[in-house]
Amino acid sequence: MKRRIGILTSGGDCPGLNATIRGVAKACYERFGEDNVEIVGISNGYYGLINNLCKDMAPSAFSGILTQGGTIFGTKRQPFKMMQVIGDDNVDKVKNMKETYKKQKLDCLLTLGGNGTHKTSKLLADEGLNVIGLPKTIDNDIYGTDVTFGFHTAVDIATEAIDRLHTTAASHSRILLCEIMGNKAGWLTLNAGLAGGADIILIPEIPYDIDKVCDAVMQRTASGKTFSIVAVAEGCFDTTEAKMKKKERAKKRAEAGMTTATNRIAAQIQANTGVEARVCVPGHMLRGGAPSAYDRVLATQFGVHAAWLIAQEKYGRTVAKIGNKITSNKLDDIAGKTKFVDVDNHLVIAAKDIGVSFGD
Ligand code: F6P
Repeated sequence: MKRRIGILTSGGDCPGLNATIRGVAKACYERFGEDNVEIVGISNGYYGLINNLCKDMAPSAFSGILTQGGTIFGTKRQPFKMMQVIGDDNVDKVKNMKETYKKQKLDCLLTLGGNGTHKTSKLLADEGLNVIGLPKTIDNDIYGTDVTFGFHTAVDIATEAIDRLHTTAASHSRILLCEIMGNKAGWLTLNAGLAGGADIILIPEIPYDIDKVCDAVMQRTASGKTFSIVAVAEGCFDTTEAKMKKKERAKKRAEAGMTTATNRIAAQIQANTGVEARVCVPGHMLRGGAPSAYDRVLATQFGVHAAWLIAQEKYGRTVAKIGNKITSNKLDDIAGKTKFVDVDNHLVIAAKDIGVSFGD
């Protein structure tokens, strides 16, 4: 039995996409035999599926990509809320995606992506396509899996950034704020903050009170510490903003002329404590380059499991790691949900137990 498998990568890229693609491909060639598998690479995520940008891949395409950052297929953000909307271009995206699937004679479609990707995967599964998701994101916020590939690499990179800020902060007796990606969820900031020895960690799930943040800095000063390190999730907000709707919050920020939460916090700390503050934004460096050893292993395990799901014809699912087990969840159960940091998460408790302030 010949199988034609479409693969796409969608949303923001991250380290480990190619390692996962390689894992799927190698496991399928091993399991079904090279002559019985045809892998179709779909360019630039769902955009490629909508526009039939597909290419039959040779098995050799999946060699030598384990350590390669980015994605060999390219990626694009295709907002879910626009998926079922026919815009000015008059394109019915869902219809087109189904047509491409048919034209390419696919037996199944593998979608490597984050929360938005999974919502569209569920939509396509509901439309009758055989879809398997693979959980990718540096944010680690996909519901139903303990970990996503790309996350651990980003934690390593953010940790190194924080490590390097320590010496310059100490030399200049400054507050150094490191802004870390993570718009909705604070997993990356929490983990990197802990690993990098940040004194203050600010995440979206725990709205901060700026006075408490400044108190934490002043307490350090009073105890003879001349510098402080603050790990700030890009999406964090204060207790006043926490009461606002998203739009209202964005309007208030635009009016104040502040581009990021981190810039605002830095200015407030400097004004309130008198200690000089500087901001560092590693930004997309967190998403670039080779995956860590952890992510290479995880990506390979995820790829192997996807091949197993194909063999069992278990579709409408997404691969997951729960405890030490690689397994899968129904798309129905996880799509549209986000995995947030609980305020009493064991890492938050551990951080508080060693004196880290969350500004709460
Ligand atoms: O979803 C992953 C992520 O890196 C977020 O942490 C970040 O907010 C966002 O993508 C940035 O997206 P873009 O690359 O489109 O600017």
